[in-house]
Amino acid sequence: MRIFRDEEKLSPEYVPKALPHRESELKLLKTFFSGVVSGTSRISTRVIITGSVGTGKSALVKLFGREAREDARKRGVDLRFLYVNCRISKTIFTILTRIIEQLRARIPMRGYSYEELLHKILNYFEAKNIYGILALDEVDALLGREEKNALYFFSRIGEEREKVPRISVILITRNPEMFDVLDESTRSTLLGNIIHLDEYNSDQLYDIVKFRADEALIPGVLMESSLRLIADLAGERGDARYALDILWRAGKYAEAEGFPRITPEHVRKASASIYPAIRREHLEYLGDHERLILLALSRALKEGQAYITANDLHQHYRMICEEYSTQPRAYTRFWEYLQRLDDLGIIRINVKSEGIKGRRSYISLPGMPVSILRRELELILEKGKGP
Ligand SMILES: Nc1ncnc2c1ncn2[C@@H]1O[C@H](COP(=O)(O)OP(=O)(O)OP(=O)(O)O)[C@@H](O)[C@H]1O
Ligand SMILES: [Mg+2]
Repeated sequence: MRIFRDEEKLSPEYVPKALPHRESELKLLKTFFSGVVSGTSRISTRVIITGSVGTGKSALVKLFGREAREDARKRGVDLRFLYVNCRISKTIFTILTRIIEQLRARIPMRGYSYEELLHKILNYFEAKNIYGILALDEVDALLGREEKNALYFFSRIGEEREKVPRISVILITRNPEMFDVLDESTRSTLLGNIIHLDEYNSDQLYDIVKFRADEALIPGVLMESSLRLIADLAGERGDARYALDILWRAGKYAEAEGFPRITPEHVRKASASIYPAIRREHLEYLGDHERLILLALSRALKEGQAYITANDLHQHYRMICEEYSTQPRAYTRFWEYLQRLDDLGIIRINVKSEGIKGRRSYISLPGMPVSILRRELELILEKGKGP
């Protein structure tokens, strides 16, 4: 019994032809870049995209890049869409390397500083009369030591050249607090153009899953009740990736059983296989700093609070480190630990918008009472302290 018509259409790399419930954000992006697409812009455009996990940030920007390139082509403008994921390419140098590769430009790299390389890239754009939109995804992975300059470097691209701006930039991040480290003038140029993607509610996820199922599955195999259940399960997280992951796995279960339809039981199996409830043993597998962060979280949340901001949690974590005579990690590493704890389903990171400057990442602990977590962690950490 076949379930999938085109399974590839549920793979993480695939970018759908449309994104239901992101039409207005797509339109806004097009408005910001209209001068770039027509090749008439006199100032370099910079846009920030924020939003929690699975809110469609990457998909939106990739779809926009594809359409912008096409719109520009129709107007006789050669516009290149350059996409770099900073979690993979973590330094200015590797990002520039990816750009040169994507341009298929023959620019020698060895022995040049990155300022020199950037100038060579800009010369290339001018010589070929092309334009570019550079999308830097997951820029939160960049911050730290040398990389701190990266944000500054890429948000100022080409500013010192008096010619037509050739490269515009889109920065994508889950963590809007990362811009706090920038100086005021960079901040204000960047923070003007923010598009924040709210978490999807279950009705929106219903439409999204239905749309993606129509592309990927044989018509009629997804039962209406299963679709609703997926939307409701994922609605608690507001996360489209989670919804599509359940859909794909549920399809796999149905296929393996040789069943002609995806039933709610397949959906339940799929969701149980993705995020198992936190068990005590899981805490044993965590690294010391992840435990210290969780301990900080469990102490900070005890006052009947549901959330704490990432910055506040970092403060609490530093105090806990002092208590356990451990050197605290810098914010970038701390943020990586938070992402891992979120990926494991132990904590939740929500980006909330409270007016332009007030977007914050809020951390919560949905799966376990803080009192139990605190006791468990104190026991484990006590053991680890040695005789
Ligand atoms: N509105 C939508 N319609 C259809 N598919 C969507 C929509 N939003 C997101 N998706 C799909 O959900 C998955 C997750 O989206 P995406 O990767 O863009 O999230 P993200 O915000 O970049 O998450 P992260 O912070 O983890 O990088 C992708 O497979 C994407 O194609
Ligand atoms: Mg993404």
